[in-house]
Amino acid sequence: MATHQLNEEDTKHLRRVSADLPPSPPDSEHSDSEKAEADTQQLIPRPSHTDFPLPPTSTEPTAVLEPDKKTPDSWLPRDPRLIRLTGVHPFNVEAPLSDLYNEGFLTSPELFYVRNHGHVPRVEEADIPDWEFTVEGLVENPLTLTLRDLIADYNNVTYPITLVCAGNRRKEQNVVRKTKGFSWGAAGVSTALFTGVVLGDVLAKAKPMRGARYVCMEGADKLPNGYYGTSVKLNWAVDPNKGMMLAHKMNGEMLRPDHGKPLRVVIPGQIGGRSVKWLKRLIITSEPSDNWYHIYDNRVLPTMVSPEESANKPAWWMDERYAIYDLSTNSAIAYPAHEEQLCLVGSEPSYRVKGYAYGGGGRRVTRVELSIDKGVTWRLANIDYAEDRYREAGRQQLYGGEMDLEWRENSFCWCFWNIDMTVSELAASNDLLVRAMDDSMNLQPRDMYWSVLGMMNNPWYRITISKEN
Ligand code: MTE
Repeated sequence: MATHQLNEEDTKHLRRVSADLPPSPPDSEHSDSEKAEADTQQLIPRPSHTDFPLPPTSTEPTAVLEPDKKTPDSWLPRDPRLIRLTGVHPFNVEAPLSDLYNEGFLTSPELFYVRNHGHVPRVEEADIPDWEFTVEGLVENPLTLTLRDLIADYNNVTYPITLVCAGNRRKEQNVVRKTKGFSWGAAGVSTALFTGVVLGDVLAKAKPMRGARYVCMEGADKLPNGYYGTSVKLNWAVDPNKGMMLAHKMNGEMLRPDHGKPLRVVIPGQIGGRSVKWLKRLIITSEPSDNWYHIYDNRVLPTMVSPEESANKPAWWMDERYAIYDLSTNSAIAYPAHEEQLCLVGSEPSYRVKGYAYGGGGRRVTRVELSIDKGVTWRLANIDYAEDRYREAGRQQLYGGEMDLEWRENSFCWCFWNIDMTVSELAASNDLLVRAMDDSMNLQPRDMYWSVLGMMNNPWYRITISKEN
């Protein structure tokens, strides 16, 4: 769409054209005890608190979608608003960014992004309390626990956690040069109130031995290269400030199948790929995981490594230095939304530009800045950290878990930001840029760091504005 000089006399429309890029077309690539029982099967009533955000009204989908009918997930109803990013199967989806933003601080399970490497393991309702997982390897006291044990024998906690796929915003990288990954827009991120047991509490019972340095995790989904698995450092896992959790509820309901029902790991501040779903094994080791998905996924290789070259050079992949753990500082503009029209009718209507931002590794976003002159000058946006209201609320029971965020040092969640601009100043600009900085002064870079898997993409987020009569 051609850009031309605005004539103030006319009714003008500003249309956001390329914005965060349009919704992705499908990509052919396939990256490859009674009380306890009642607890796992019932919907816990909503608490009455209003001082912190509660989840949006949520309705579990009831209909199996047409594309899923010929896949191994043909038993699983899903929300039709989700945008499929890898053809029909496996299920990799994000919500339209404006829908995600409109949900507010907490995302409903049906619009929460999904990243599945294969089919979803099916668990009969009656078998859920008996779902078993092990804690093995370099431990004095190996454990085999059921979900029932986890709920009955451990302290359950509830707090909000933002999960982000390492591929969030990869689409922008694919536009520059095709990566090996599929095109996430900027909605590969979502937040929920997770309920579960602090991972460190379970590890303390298992008693890691001398020499133990890693926690390897394995899911129940058998994939072409084995079960999905990965690892994190043991000293992170035992640090309560890191917030790592074995979760069985999301927004007060049992986890939905796509999100790891009945049990998953949730790791705040790190890439979603470390938060293993359908958890079956925790293996304590002296070395990082040798699982195929730990090695060949979730890495940022040096930028000169091409897709072709990377295929023949396992040494690139084996180098643990390139494995991604903490998220990078990132932000995106939700409004103006894609293709949104802003009308300039004589007067100077004000427009609220809005979006989200997050830091990595528990770091907090301390500023969000916008520019309408290509980064020459910047304006500070207002930041709302809804997570703080949970901290201020102090210790209380929420959805069957104790909310004990107030003393934790780290931030586990995204924030929302906004800034008022006049429509005419937006009209006078060709694009709108946003960048965020965290409390370690990590600032989103101007330039993209392209890499073969297209992960951790976080340059200044830009939307373009075009004008039409
Ligand atoms: N765990 C298993 N078992 N299998 C998977 O495919 N995908 C990982 C992680 N855990 C995955 C998994 C990736 S890459 C991400 S980003 C998150 O799950 C996504 O979690 P969600 O689908 O609940 O949003």
